[in-house]
Amino acid sequence: MTKVITVCNQKGGVGKTTMTMSLASLWHHQGKSVVIVDTDRQQSATKWEQRSETFPVPVTPILPDQLKTFASAVRKRAEGADIVLVDTPPTLAGDTVTIACFVADLVLVPIKPDALHIDALEEFRGFLDEANAKRAKLEMDPLNVRLVVNMMPNRKAARLVVEKLEELTGLAALTNRIGDRSDFQLAALNRAGLVEVSAATSPAYKELVALASEIEESL
Ligand SMILES: Nc1ncnc2c1ncn2[C@@H]1O[C@H](COP(=O)(O)OP(=O)(O)OP(=O)(O)O)[C@@H](O)[C@H]1O
Ligand SMILES: [Mg+2]
Repeated sequence: MTKVITVCNQKGGVGKTTMTMSLASLWHHQGKSVVIVDTDRQQSATKWEQRSETFPVPVTPILPDQLKTFASAVRKRAEGADIVLVDTPPTLAGDTVTIACFVADLVLVPIKPDALHIDALEEFRGFLDEANAKRAKLEMDPLNVRLVVNMMPNRKAARLVVEKLEELTGLAALTNRIGDRSDFQLAALNRAGLVEVSAATSPAYKELVALASEIEESL
């Protein structure tokens, strides 16, 4: 059965696209069939793949307008794939992110442990409550949502921010975190997958492998 993972956070620059591309390239490398759907008009994921000669996972831009048409476009694109990763824009305006979340088996919310992101995440909590109210009316289960800590510095203040974000949203963060690692920027610079620019022994690679397996357990 294909699993759909939607990566979202209306805050810009938290690492949605980087995480989408990194997880996709790792799972591909591990022998899974993966496709990426890009719902962001900026088309960062689409351009990353188009301008790359080596990025191993296809990226298809699909702008969601209605749930039914988006769900069927994703199903068609996903034919035979193990995992579909859906990258989303940094906004909660319109229906794009709602629709992208409605088709997901798992919603991943990358967060930066930054105190100024607390308000944004509270707003995201409100968005989830609304989405779940809509789902309840349609007799659908609540969304399966996990925070993913990204660009984690080794500082006490950052740990306190993560605790605060979990407490305020009532959402659990996955135990495995991604540090602030230049390899992720190198991957973007080279339009590559992390696995192509980073040695298997590097901290970035190891963190990604640990995170990916925890995500699979959460599906
Ligand atoms: N773990 C990381 N360590 C260091 N840099 C990172 C990490 N993850 C992402 N970045 C960098 O942070 C910046 C923002 O990342 P990215 O574009 O993936 O965020 P985004 O949430 O998709 O942004 P947008 O909201 O504009 O779509 C990029 O320069 C990227 O290389
Ligand atoms: Mg992005």
